[in-house]
Amino acid sequence: MSAAPDDTAVLRVDSDRLWSSLSELGSVGAYHDSDTDLEGVRRLALTDEDITGRELVLGWMREAGLSIRMDAVGNVYARRAGLDDSLAPVLVGSHIDSVATAGRFDGCLGVLGGLEVVRTLNDHGVSTRRPFEVAIFTEEEGARFGTDMLGSATAAGRISLAQARSRADRDGVSVGAELDRRGLVGDQVVPMPARPHAYLECHIEQGPILAEHGTDIGVVRGVQAITWLELEISGRAAHAGATPNALRRDAELAAALIRVRLDEMVTSGDYGVMLATVGRHETTPNLVNIVPSHVLMTVDLRNHDGDAMDRATIDLHEYLRAVEERTGTTISVAVTAQTPPVHFPPQMRDRVAKAAAGLGLSSEEITSGAGHDAGEIAALCPAGMVFVPGLYDGISHNPREYSTPEACADGINVLLHAVLGLLED
Ligand code: GLV
Ligand code: MN
Ligand code: MN
Ligand code: MN
Repeated sequence: MSAAPDDTAVLRVDSDRLWSSLSELGSVGAYHDSDTDLEGVRRLALTDEDITGRELVLGWMREAGLSIRMDAVGNVYARRAGLDDSLAPVLVGSHIDSVATAGRFDGCLGVLGGLEVVRTLNDHGVSTRRPFEVAIFTEEEGARFGTDMLGSATAAGRISLAQARSRADRDGVSVGAELDRRGLVGDQVVPMPARPHAYLECHIEQGPILAEHGTDIGVVRGVQAITWLELEISGRAAHAGATPNALRRDAELAAALIRVRLDEMVTSGDYGVMLATVGRHETTPNLVNIVPSHVLMTVDLRNHDGDAMDRATIDLHEYLRAVEERTGTTISVAVTAQTPPVHFPPQMRDRVAKAAAGLGLSSEEITSGAGHDAGEIAALCPAGMVFVPGLYDGISHNPREYSTPEACADGINVLLHAVLGLLED
């Protein structure tokens, strides 16, 4: 049975089914978050919780008749055949790994939304000219292995498989060891051997703009540049009461100077609209009466302007040398992630805007503050993104993250109709 493309204009996804899939996956890795007194999600990449989540989603994908393949970095591609299966597929996807204090939407909406598109096409017996694939990308968050978009960056060839496999978590367990242990090494080569026809990803906005404006759908212009640094500051442990100031090599003082300098850089306006976060900070020996000998701190820099990002990174390095001099410490820097700003092509933005308009939904263009797999896959094929509004100031990476069933269904209806067009190209 197949529907003529004209008949497909009336198709709508099943909002209840989408919501119940989001809720069921959201219960995998659920924990009580004492900070918010809410149930949060903790599904760090390649942990038991992530594997349980994958098994749940893969089961649904198989039930929907999709054929599954996996690549060498554990990315999953679930395929619905096309009438001409030799054509390049239309790919949608996202991730189901999470940060340690997550809600239920970040990433999951894109994967389960792709599945909901498949289920809707199946319900209505719609055949499509091109094959359709739904991807689950490995370690999008970088929350465990320290490099975000690890799976999609490897698929896109921006980082090598060897680089991806060598990334290690805080306990020294590598991506490669986890992939091998869990049997997640598919026989497909990475980077992706065949380019998709196009890629689309639906995601919760993770910011306040759409809700503030009362807009239904965000048509994503692109993704801002991201740089992640890991700084290791080495000083010397010494007695807090008996060591004169001139003899101290205080790693914590160095860290504090760097943190304040980052804030000065942000507020100076010299680097455009820059954001800086020190999200991880570990002091050794971390005792009241000892001058700290070591600090490990991460720096997350974001900027819409790639040149400003480059300048900020160079200037920060220069400042680190000055801090070494002033504090008598040594500071080593590892760049753990670095992505330039990504601009999605106008034709993909147009597809999303037209799909929204066809559904009677309001839309506006918006630039993503967060990193996304779409930013990586954009190197392989025309890519685009659909954002849905989040509540509570759009808070995300927090159990309070929330979007309504209606907003999620709106986003996936836009995905469905943009995808239906691409599948007939
Ligand atoms: C990933 O969510 C990131 O933007 O850090
Ligand atoms: Mn995400
Ligand atoms: Mn995230
Ligand atoms: Mn992310």
